Amino acid sequence: MNLTLGTLLPTNESPSLPAIQTATRQPVTLTVNGVKTELQLAPWTSLLDALREYMHLTGTKKGCDHGQCGACTVLVNNKRINACLTLAIMQEDTQITTIEGLSSLDQTSSSSKLHPLQRAFIDHDAFQCGYCTPGQICSAVGLLNEGHAKTADDVRELMSGNICRCGAYPGIVAAITSVMDSQPTTV
Ligand code: FES
Ligand code: FES
Repeated sequence: MNLTLGTLLPTNESPSLPAIQTATRQPVTLTVNGVKTELQLAPWTSLLDALREYMHLTGTKKGCDHGQCGACTVLVNNKRINACLTLAIMQEDTQITTIEGLSSLDQTSSSSKLHPLQRAFIDHDAFQCGYCTPGQICSAVGLLNEGHAKTADDVRELMSGNICRCGAYPGIVAAITSVMDSQPTTV
């Protein structure tokens, strides 16, 4: 006999997924790019899903959802992490920065001013499809904050958690080393 959840429960107690999700949601307050937002989330919601599905910050990408590609890299208290590997509820007292929060307002022109790494990725042609790029840039900001990279080989090694399926690595390394050589970077 083929047993399923439906066959194990009396028919009048069959679960309704939306009902379960609504019943188990709880308030979670996240501070993202300096803005505090209260969400209603199931406790198992990843930070990645909270950002993309509930806050509509879709710059952060979902590649593997298993910590293997780096597409979901964001900064938590200025340190780079994979947003797919942490629960949103665990990040309530942290400062989260996504790719959307890296640029700043240019007071003189009232327009958005790119982060030096965003500018460098453009200048060095460091992407093709762009899917990995937000994660690459956030990871690079974290890398420079760590201060361990001194050479291009260090950059290659310490960025090895961020996969680029287009193979734009030469441009990515050139962009990061250009910023590394010109200034210490903080968010
Ligand atoms: S989506 Fe998080 S590491 Fe791939
Ligand atoms: S630019 Fe396409 S995956 Fe990196």
